[in-house]
Amino acid sequence: MERLIISGGVKLKGVVTISGAKNAILPILAACILNKSPLVLEGVPHLDDVKTIKEVLEALGAKVTWNRDLIEVDPTTICSPEVPPALMRRMRASNLVMGSLLGRYGKVKASYPGGCTIGSRPMDLHLKGFAALGARVQEKHGFIEAEAPRLKGTEIHLDFPSVGATENIMTAAVLAEGTTIIRNAAREPEIVDLQNFLNKLGARIKGAGLDTIRIDGVSSLERKISYRVIPDRIETGTFMVAAALARGEVLIKNAIPKHVEPVTAKLREAGVKIREEDDQIHVTGVERWNPLDIRTFPFPGFPTDMQPQMMVFLSLAKGTSIVTENIFENRFQHVGELRRMGAQIHVEGRSAIIKGVPSLTGTAVEATDLRAGAALVLGGLAAENTTIVEGLQHLDRGYERLEEKLRLLGADIRRQR
Ligand code: UD1
Repeated sequence: MERLIISGGVKLKGVVTISGAKNAILPILAACILNKSPLVLEGVPHLDDVKTIKEVLEALGAKVTWNRDLIEVDPTTICSPEVPPALMRRMRASNLVMGSLLGRYGKVKASYPGGCTIGSRPMDLHLKGFAALGARVQEKHGFIEAEAPRLKGTEIHLDFPSVGATENIMTAAVLAEGTTIIRNAAREPEIVDLQNFLNKLGARIKGAGLDTIRIDGVSSLERKISYRVIPDRIETGTFMVAAALARGEVLIKNAIPKHVEPVTAKLREAGVKIREEDDQIHVTGVERWNPLDIRTFPFPGFPTDMQPQMMVFLSLAKGTSIVTENIFENRFQHVGELRRMGAQIHVEGRSAIIKGVPSLTGTAVEATDLRAGAALVLGGLAAENTTIVEGLQHLDRGYERLEEKLRLLGADIRRQR
């Protein structure tokens, strides 16, 4: 079993370059299904989740070639509308092919992705959207089937601005007859990236980034394009917190400051010095920092995907902080592991009360999900003595060369195989 061995207490110093966004490349790769020509994606991060969506496309019949940070997809050979259950189980985001399959081929069958450790994560909003577009949706024996010769544009009001449901409805509506309006849509930067990608292919979408998205259906998409995905805002945020926690001085390149504004605002409130330039962010840590009150919300609120990393940071603040998780019902599993490192955290319902301590102590800990894993690595960087992080399969889903990037900043971190 692989593990990371971290000797904490080193001040991080230097330059780090952010990779392409996991949560942008996954829906964009899924949306390639809609096109009638091969196309190229640039800035693709080497992540296990990207490998999984590549396998999904291949299982559907597409040809996918991955070379360094370029992926070429030839969707013209797709011959099956059925997503293999094993790939649906491996990654919830495999469901992102459903809207494109339904829109392009009039049919999709996939097993239910089920719950995961951070919460139950249902699909009802996706399926209500498909049904509103005129699909016949059936759920039987853990499988979802949706069918419609051609979808028809309509108005859909999402009960919650779900990222995945917004993306699936957008892709389903691209080739639909007439206009689709999605109200209370998710406003995440990855939705804007998906819109830009689809419009470059010839789709007619407006409004992504706002709460109402308008999709005017077109008859087909067939351009040969190449498209570069946006930088990963969660990786950016994770390095910002790493720099602050390790009292370092780090220049983060290939970042979009606007995408991490909620994180920047909170770190500044804590006392961390942050300078933003066009596509880079300079972070300078301080010796001790102020406690914070953080509540996670859909974008532009504070991202749930940064909640665990921020909690480690607050474990070393000079005072008591409160973190409230509003998106997922079970996203505090890192708390037990952080407590083992000496953090003083008490959970009450959806809130965690964090009493700052002067230092954390390294020990053996286990990642239970992707961002929890990142939080434990950050804890290890700040802790006295050695931290061993297990459960790296979670980290490898979403961080490209994490330990190599941290080592370049001076961290004492290595992977033991
Ligand atoms: C995406 C991100 C994930 C991030 C999350 C919230 C990707 C690949 N993943 O996940 O990293 O943590 O957004 O920012 O982009 N919900 C329903 N019914 C539905 C769909 C969602 O009730 O049909 C609920 C979920 O249970 C959850 C909330 O809505 O409580 C947010 O989920 P959603 O925005 O859909 O997250 P994902 O798209 O799965």
